[in-house]
Amino acid sequence: MLDVQNIRKDFPILNRTVNGKPLIYFDNAATSQTPQQVIDVIVDYYSNYNANIHRGVHSLSQEATDAYEQARIKIQKHFNAKHSYEIIYTAGTTHSINLVANGFSSLLKKGDEIIVSALEHHSNIVPWQMLCERTGASLKVIPMNENGELIMSAYDALLNDNTKLVFVNHISNALGTINPIEYIIEKAHQVGAAVLVDGAQSCPHLKPDVQALNVDFYVCSAHKICGPTGVGMLYGKEEWLNKLPPYQGGGEMIAEVSFEKTTYAALPHKFEAGTPNICGGIAFGAAIDYMNSIGFDNIAQYEHELLEYGTEQLQQIEGLKIYGTAKEKTSVISFNVSNIHPYDIGTILDKMGIAVRTGHHCAQPIMDFYKIPGTIRASFMFYNTKEEIDAFIVALKKAIMMLS
Ligand code: ALA
Repeated sequence: MLDVQNIRKDFPILNRTVNGKPLIYFDNAATSQTPQQVIDVIVDYYSNYNANIHRGVHSLSQEATDAYEQARIKIQKHFNAKHSYEIIYTAGTTHSINLVANGFSSLLKKGDEIIVSALEHHSNIVPWQMLCERTGASLKVIPMNENGELIMSAYDALLNDNTKLVFVNHISNALGTINPIEYIIEKAHQVGAAVLVDGAQSCPHLKPDVQALNVDFYVCSAHKICGPTGVGMLYGKEEWLNKLPPYQGGGEMIAEVSFEKTTYAALPHKFEAGTPNICGGIAFGAAIDYMNSIGFDNIAQYEHELLEYGTEQLQQIEGLKIYGTAKEKTSVISFNVSNIHPYDIGTILDKMGIAVRTGHHCAQPIMDFYKIPGTIRASFMFYNTKEEIDAFIVALKKAIMMLS
């Protein structure tokens, strides 16, 4: 059982008001809030040992390097990667995906096929479309059903000897569907295709084991798991990371540089050109410590209760339709009410101190599937409460009355 009232004390922002009302933060799928434990790590870094890493012989540089590399090991252990050098620091999920997509430019040819799913965020569609334009490969899409679940028989039919890559999210940001990635990975490997899983929305809710999944690439952002923005990671199997060329050139990613020829550094530095987000990396490690101190089993159980409670309450509102009713789902509820535009409801909720996301959630193909411009999305984290859901329902009913 989670002691949610105590956990809430870790998050200073949850004490603030918005438009004169206590903040109810239900936009966690866009970004999570930051606990004092992580804020303290950020303040400590800039107050006490801010320095560039892997460069100086001086003490500050050594301290910063040690903290940054220790955080990499925390990330490695959290995801159960075999080696710490299989964890590449990036600016976030989008950067990680683009790094891989760029790397495959030289490995694909005309006639090759790439599979994505109908549930993807734009960041797991557009980089692959750009890759197809560069290489002549073609993009295939695993379709979804009305509940927002991927149709696995259609996936099976798409796979063939030309399939080289499969890209799916672990959890849909717009609908909350948990995808059957174990099955997707196994089937892709049977035809020799590599798989990248976008874990941006799964990492706040569960603890992926990349070796047990046997996934080739797994990516996520720190800011979804109580860490700062602007930092994330790419996990890649060693053999794949060795096959991919560097993404960006610059300092730190080289072994030797001359005007005739440059050789590249070993993993992970080959993919980490330039001064990185040092403080962000260290704080990413602190966020992982924080999430583990709460415990992922506790998080999953409690958030499931919030999901069920919120769903039941919302279903009682006349004219309200929930999009995304998959059997396997996390604490995200997307909905619309009658013909009211999602933006109008979101604006009124904000006036009452309630933060939700409205719009297409960077997943326009999902909105096209349902033939809607967008939804209102309430996404819960372990620090939200049933009382907040009650207040949200009251506010939502008021908004509906004002707009009907
Ligand atoms: N991808 C983030 C979201 O779903 C920003 O809101």
